[in-house]
Amino acid sequence: MSFKNFKCVPKMIFGRGSFVQLDVVLGQERKEANDFVVFLVDDVHQGKPLADRVPTKAHDLLIYVNVDEEPTTEQVDGFTAQVKAFNTTLPVSVVGLGGGSTMDLAKAVSLMLTNPGSSSEYQGWDLIKNPAVHHIGIPTVSGTGAEASRTAVLCGPVRKLGLNSDYTVFDQIIMDSELIAGVPTDQWFYTGMDCFIHCVESLQGTYLNEFAKAFAEKSMDLCRQVFLDDHAEKDDKLMMASYMGGMSIAYSQVGACHAVSYGLGYVLGYHHGIGNCLAFNVLEEFYPEGVTEFRKMMKIHNITLPKNICKDLPDETIAKMVAVTKSMGPLWDNVYGKGWEEKVTDEMLTKLFRRI
Ligand SMILES: NC(=O)c1ccc[n+]([C@@H]2O[C@H](COP(=O)([O-])OP(=O)(O)OC[C@H]3O[C@@H](n4cnc5c(N)ncnc54)[C@H](O)[C@@H]3O)[C@@H](O)[C@H]2O)c1
Ligand SMILES: [Fe+2]
Repeated sequence: MSFKNFKCVPKMIFGRGSFVQLDVVLGQERKEANDFVVFLVDDVHQGKPLADRVPTKAHDLLIYVNVDEEPTTEQVDGFTAQVKAFNTTLPVSVVGLGGGSTMDLAKAVSLMLTNPGSSSEYQGWDLIKNPAVHHIGIPTVSGTGAEASRTAVLCGPVRKLGLNSDYTVFDQIIMDSELIAGVPTDQWFYTGMDCFIHCVESLQGTYLNEFAKAFAEKSMDLCRQVFLDDHAEKDDKLMMASYMGGMSIAYSQVGACHAVSYGLGYVLGYHHGIGNCLAFNVLEEFYPEGVTEFRKMMKIHNITLPKNICKDLPDETIAKMVAVTKSMGPLWDNVYGKGWEEKVTDEMLTKLFRRI
């Protein structure tokens, strides 16, 4: 038996208003007069007060990224080429300021600046050869745990799969809860539920261990304070929940909801957060308490999910989703343990999808 040797983020700043420290953090990386930094900033912040607070210097490159669609390998290759065209030397840091999508783009670009070819060649596990450029993640919407994870999830020519490696992990994260205050309620809820669902799947999974449990239990507790109690410190709590949920699944595994959500996302294009909510809402047999609590949270925050999305879809479309969902072996292993192959039938999954 071998245990996971998990690489985690070595430096982190947590605190309301801590974004201001980014300038000092970058100052430690800027050593020569020509050293430059690349900022990838979610374009939702363009023209907003936060954009003026990004500590750019004369030589730096700031790119606004659009995340209406989830990140693609093509987008990553494009940004990497843009950085290389901007300067013949490497930047001293790549900063991602935004949600899971923007942070994943920053991770991927920092990797691709030092690894040849297209990012699609590295979708998988431990395919990255060379260490990345120093990279920093700063969430502006919380829940995915992307700030803590060793993957950068990308939609590639063949499949949606992450660049999973120790080099993917951020060198630094800054968790400033002020930055998530303005997220619209629906998005706040969907991304926040990604975290809640990580905890449910981790805690009820066969991969559970005390390490993962310690993080998931605390993260779940924080999620309840955020989504059920509407706690006054809810932004700080959600930010911490997201990190801890990420730490929990890093040392366990996600489950049925993520498997179904991947199928839904891959075929119908639903984003991760809302896809998870749509999937979770039909998984009461798998996660009875979690789903009851989730519905209570939806009610409190007046969230209405789209209905009957799959009811009348052609059989072939459902079959495609079923195939993607079924292929998530480790996730099903986490749900059922040994012998999961017999339990994850086309019939069972088709029934689930038809209810979404
Ligand atoms: N790397 C990982 O470990 C990991 C884990 C889970 C999910 N993911 C990936 O993360 C992505 C989803 O990330 P997400 O749910 O954080 O959302 P996101 O980054 O896709 O952003 C969702 C929306 O919120 C907007 N937004 C971001 N910050 C905002 C702010 N402060 N105010 C107003 N709007 C704001 C964005 O512009 C976008 O429209 C998916 O691509 C998924 O595959 C990665
Ligand atoms: Fe997730």
